[in-house]
Amino acid sequence: MNKDYFYVTTPIYYVNDKPHIGHAYTTILADVLARYHRLAGVPTHFLTGTDEHGQKVKQAADKAGMSPREQADRTVVRFQEAWQRLEITNDDFIRTTEDRHIKVVQGILQDLYDRGEIYKADYDGWYDVSSETFVTEKDLPEGQNPEDLPNITRIRETNYFFRMSAYQDWLIQYINDNPEFIQPEMRRNETLGFLRKPLGDLCISRPKSRMSWGIELPFDKDFVTYVWFDALVNYISAIGYRGDDEHFKRWWPVSLQLIGKDILTTHTVYWPTMLKAMNLPMPGTVFAHGWWLTGKTKMSKSLGNVVNPMDCIERFGVDAFRYFLMSEMSLGQDASFTEEAFILKYNADLANDLGNVLNRVMKLIQKDFGGKVPEALTLTEAEHDLQRAAVAAAEGMLQSVKAMRLDLGLQGLAAVVRRANQYLEQQQPWSLVKEPANRERVATVLYTVAELLRIVSGMLYPVMPGKMIDLRKALGLGVDPPQFERLHHWGGLTAGTQISEMIQLFPRAQKPSSDNEDLKMEQTKPAADKAADGLIDISEFGRVQLRTARILTAEKIDGADKLLKLQIDLGVEQRQLVAGIAQHYSPDELPGRMILVVANLKPARIRGVESCGMLLAASHEGGLVLLAPDGDIPPGCPVK
Ligand code: ME8
Ligand code: MG
Repeated sequence: MNKDYFYVTTPIYYVNDKPHIGHAYTTILADVLARYHRLAGVPTHFLTGTDEHGQKVKQAADKAGMSPREQADRTVVRFQEAWQRLEITNDDFIRTTEDRHIKVVQGILQDLYDRGEIYKADYDGWYDVSSETFVTEKDLPEGQNPEDLPNITRIRETNYFFRMSAYQDWLIQYINDNPEFIQPEMRRNETLGFLRKPLGDLCISRPKSRMSWGIELPFDKDFVTYVWFDALVNYISAIGYRGDDEHFKRWWPVSLQLIGKDILTTHTVYWPTMLKAMNLPMPGTVFAHGWWLTGKTKMSKSLGNVVNPMDCIERFGVDAFRYFLMSEMSLGQDASFTEEAFILKYNADLANDLGNVLNRVMKLIQKDFGGKVPEALTLTEAEHDLQRAAVAAAEGMLQSVKAMRLDLGLQGLAAVVRRANQYLEQQQPWSLVKEPANRERVATVLYTVAELLRIVSGMLYPVMPGKMIDLRKALGLGVDPPQFERLHHWGGLTAGTQISEMIQLFPRAQKPSSDNEDLKMEQTKPAADKAADGLIDISEFGRVQLRTARILTAEKIDGADKLLKLQIDLGVEQRQLVAGIAQHYSPDELPGRMILVVANLKPARIRGVESCGMLLAASHEGGLVLLAPDGDIPPGCPVK
């Protein structure tokens, strides 16, 4: 990471429609990178915004029966709300219809015109209405009459042109000399390939008679500025070019410009030549990421398979959504968004590993150490291993930020959490703790895992800010963002720190029971339709711990004629549970009986009486019989 500053931008999105997952992706990526830099103490400026002029917006407005201004005003709110929901921490939001932007575009145009970089000429040729670009016959499919292509029309008109061709040789040289300028390499080669053909001049105007929704040319009021020449300028107008020199010098040249691969040519050919003509230094890196697909197909409005980020947030929460997008896409390549993949990753990395490790550690600290983080005493090789792995995963995350391979860094963190879970399985602190002599050992195990969670949560904070603050609060680490310097070093968690009440960080998600039913979190889903298709997989069953138990005592509960309060022997412990069997069994016939119980049910209060577990009984025609082991077996045995 460059220590001086980090200025990161996203494309400015068209306000012709509401944001979708692709827009959310680029913006979350920029946010995550901005947050990592801030965490590292690098002064950071993060810009996003909206592209409000041009034909696309005009067409959407016409269709909606409103003015383009109204269309923009309504749609920009959708973007701003989405970014707020997604916890995007942009420092500025630029709209190209703002005065601060328009003035700069006009200033640049006048300057380039005065210096002969822009000239007037007649154009007679093909025009692609969908991309708003002039095209030569070479760009069109071979052997077809352009007149027959749906978006192509013949245009004869006078326009203004920017002498882009004059910079072709310089640009090729610049790209070759500065390999970090266009990333990843595949995209650099694509641009170099494009530059093998002669580069034309860029038409930067549209006659108002044809398209009036744009920034008027300062030297000819019959024309507006071509939308791309207007839009690209946002990256400098927003930081005070030709206005606030100090602010501009603070942030230019931009460190990183994130774009999708769809807008590579505008950002790696038009934009650098424009900057060159303005005598401005080049961006550090233009990074073109790949495409989010729905399954294997391109997301498109006409196919009706566009993923709406708001739906995902509703279903899975903001943090899980951010995590999925960041960890699933290998930067540069395409990635596929499916519910199945989402749920799989969510349950594997977040619910089963991260959430579960936290849960296990907190439970034991609460139960056996009075809610205070215990002290690690004698470390064995297992603890040293885990420490090294945690610190290495943290370092790996930072390397992956520099290398633009967030997916790898996140994989490393997920792997170390999984390792912590396995470590707990191996050490079995929940069994060890039963012997007072093992108390020190248990303390060491719990401290080791809690400290690992401190490091991991700090490193995951830029990706899942809300949940990681929750996790850190649970460990008694306070509400402030993590201190970066303390993240690479083992031992930041102080023994004796009071942890919080139990929290459930990531409830398991499950598949919708039918295609059109919304996916919901377990917590909010009524029990009855949890498995409406009737089938569960073995792992789901495996989460239910059934055990044999012996009833010790049974008594009636005042005012509840269906309930009995039972004390049961579970082998290693004694428990109380409330059972709805009073109309089928009398209290005095129960003591001594063997039964089967669900041993890992969350404690509940029934009619004010604490119940820790549930017994199994079968019902038939209004009758009810207790289920019991067939044969001699002690209480506390697992049922498999
Ligand atoms: O092109 N997968 O705006 P736009 C990944 N206004 N990223 C996607 C995506 C997908 N399926 N769909 C969209 C414009 N994106 C111009 C930009 S900049 C000076 C002007 C993201 O609303 C990706 O970042 O069409 C892509 O480049 C951008 O949205 C295009 O947004
Ligand atoms: Mg587009």
